[in-house]
Amino acid sequence: MTGATRIRDAVQADLTAIRDIYNDAVENTTAIWNDNLVDLQNRQDWYAARRARGFPVLVAERDGAIAGYAAYGDWRAFEGFRHSVEHSVYVHRDHRGAGIGRQLMQELVQRARDGGIHVMVACIEAENRGSIRLHESLGFRTVGTFREVGTKFGRWLDLTCMELQL
Ligand SMILES: CC(C)(COP(=O)(O)OP(=O)(O)OC[C@H]1O[C@@H](n2cnc3c(N)ncnc32)[C@H](O)[C@@H]1OP(=O)(O)O)[C@@H](O)C(=O)NCCC(=O)NCCS
Repeated sequence: MTGATRIRDAVQADLTAIRDIYNDAVENTTAIWNDNLVDLQNRQDWYAARRARGFPVLVAERDGAIAGYAAYGDWRAFEGFRHSVEHSVYVHRDHRGAGIGRQLMQELVQRARDGGIHVMVACIEAENRGSIRLHESLGFRTVGTFREVGTKFGRWLDLTCMELQL
């Protein structure tokens, strides 16, 4: 095995792996503030909606397996916000800390530039130091932190919002 990571556009066949990475984050992290697991149809609908908007869905492939994914969608659903997006990035628990999140984000930022996006927004649970550091290192600026706007695992969660002007 080479251990090389390839970033490419997702295809339908990747959606099972994407669902599993997403559901692991739902069950075990505060990266996403959902309590309910999703099924394959949910991810198929999500993928179709992203593609219909012309937005990229990227995966990281490593040794033939999907090690992570990244995508963006509309930040707010009003016309005036059409040049801004909010993204998400998830790396499989077995592959974290190996540079895959950075590679996914570098490609996603490039796709956003190429797609004429003006601002990328990241809203991150305030204690998710790894994700905040990753975004800082990519040039994202912290805008501020909302206090106790969410809840999961029986406690309040703060939300740190970051932006990148492209
Ligand atoms: C956050 C996440 C996407 C980062 O991806 P990753 O592949 O693990 O990160 P990378 O190996 O590419 O690291 C890139 C940079 O992020 C920062 N970073 C990543 N993990 C970190 C950690 N645990 N602590 C501190 N900094 C960290 C570092 O600055 C690192 O750069 P360096 O290695 O040169 O110091 C990944 O850990 C993940 O999926 N976590 C669970 C879900 C999640 O939190 N998603 C983000 C929601 S906003």
